Amino acid sequence: MSKLWGGRFAKDTDALVHQFNASIHFDARLYDEDISGSIAWANGLSKTNVLTDVEAGIIIEGLEEVRQEFYAGKFEFQSGDEDIHTAVERRLMELVGPVGGKLHTGRSRNDQVATDFRLWVMRACDRVNLRIVDLQQALVDNAADNLELPMPGYTHLQHAQPITWGHWILSFFWPLARDSARVAQVRERTAVLPLGSAALAGTAFAIDRQALADQLGFQQISQNSLDAVSDRDFAADFLYAAAILGIHLSRLSEQLILFSSTEFGFVRLDDAYSTGSSIMPQKKNPDTLELTRGKSGRLIGNLTGLLATLKGLPSSYDKDLQEDKEPVFDAFDTLDITLAVMAGLVRTLQVQPQRLAAQLEPGLLATELADYLVKQGVPFRTAHGQVGQAVRLAEEREQDLTELTQEDLQSINTQFGPDVTEVLKVSAALAQRSIPGGTSTSALKTQLLEARRFLENI
Ligand code: ARG
Repeated sequence: MSKLWGGRFAKDTDALVHQFNASIHFDARLYDEDISGSIAWANGLSKTNVLTDVEAGIIIEGLEEVRQEFYAGKFEFQSGDEDIHTAVERRLMELVGPVGGKLHTGRSRNDQVATDFRLWVMRACDRVNLRIVDLQQALVDNAADNLELPMPGYTHLQHAQPITWGHWILSFFWPLARDSARVAQVRERTAVLPLGSAALAGTAFAIDRQALADQLGFQQISQNSLDAVSDRDFAADFLYAAAILGIHLSRLSEQLILFSSTEFGFVRLDDAYSTGSSIMPQKKNPDTLELTRGKSGRLIGNLTGLLATLKGLPSSYDKDLQEDKEPVFDAFDTLDITLAVMAGLVRTLQVQPQRLAAQLEPGLLATELADYLVKQGVPFRTAHGQVGQAVRLAEEREQDLTELTQEDLQSINTQFGPDVTEVLKVSAALAQRSIPGGTSTSALKTQLLEARRFLENI
């Protein structure tokens, strides 16, 4: 099999080595970016008179024909195709003849692959952000439907203070808002053009690199050719953004798994988003959520794998860098489906108000009692201790906090008045927290508005 670089070799590559060296089985998905990059390069070469206008025209037409073959699923790979760059060039030459051999003038696969991959990641960022926004929209809709629905709030997974379902579910909106901002930043950092760096030293032809950048949609050109062919920060950035996004999805999943359990029963998953057991007829399992939780592990693995690959690489291009693409492709594919599944799951989630209400026990109101004393001038630390005594008293008697009489409370602090019953209500506890970010109706309406505004500005 003939290789584009075969001139100096007296022997064919060992078959296993060819297989080992080849990346076509995964980098074929860069075909669109590779062809766009080559068209821009052909334009650049014609402006510097390396190609005549006629030659550039033939090459560009040929490249568009190759692109159409890919679009139509008719591109035929050959056993000698090592990677997408050699495959496209091989096919181009079949279509246009020897003039196709002029395309690679002044360029290397090193700057070519870095350019292709960056273009691909830029598109991937846009796509991931569309998916994030869709999930955020689903969360906002669910929050709007259940904005004031009271539920127990937890810390350490123990009853803490009353909150509302809308408050709870919006707490997963804002991490996604940070994710989408992060992904947009990754896109910006990725939009730096390496093309023109050639193998490592820069091309010897007077190519207008800024024009290449403009044509391909890059925001800047790279400043150092050695750095440009080896910089994979953008891939690591993408993988970090993917990993933390995966962690956010995993945390939402974990909580919904718990909430959909028989013991909690706060939510029911739609049949379309759950699966059954092959042996236990009654089972409805949250496999979708468990997979989302599980896949966060591989997203983290993709990041750490690439970081380990990059560590210790000598200056400029090394073949280790070919290991950059699979983790990024995998992270993208994982997120692309996971985000879509999660959006559907949230859209069909059935919240169970009576199950939430059943858990609103008076212990959640202990802080209200302490705040009541504070409003009578008692230092908070003293109030905390005294309410603790009240809690202990109720516990000893196997009573609820609200079942303590006024005499009981006054035996601890005489400042407990008859109006104390007013504060020992879930509705009162919620209403107290009208501070921005809090759980009162007014605060939540503002938060919902802010969430919607965020989505409108995307
Ligand atoms: N398939 C290679 C990669 O993904 C393309 C660059 C090859 N460059 C080289 N000098 N062998 O990194």
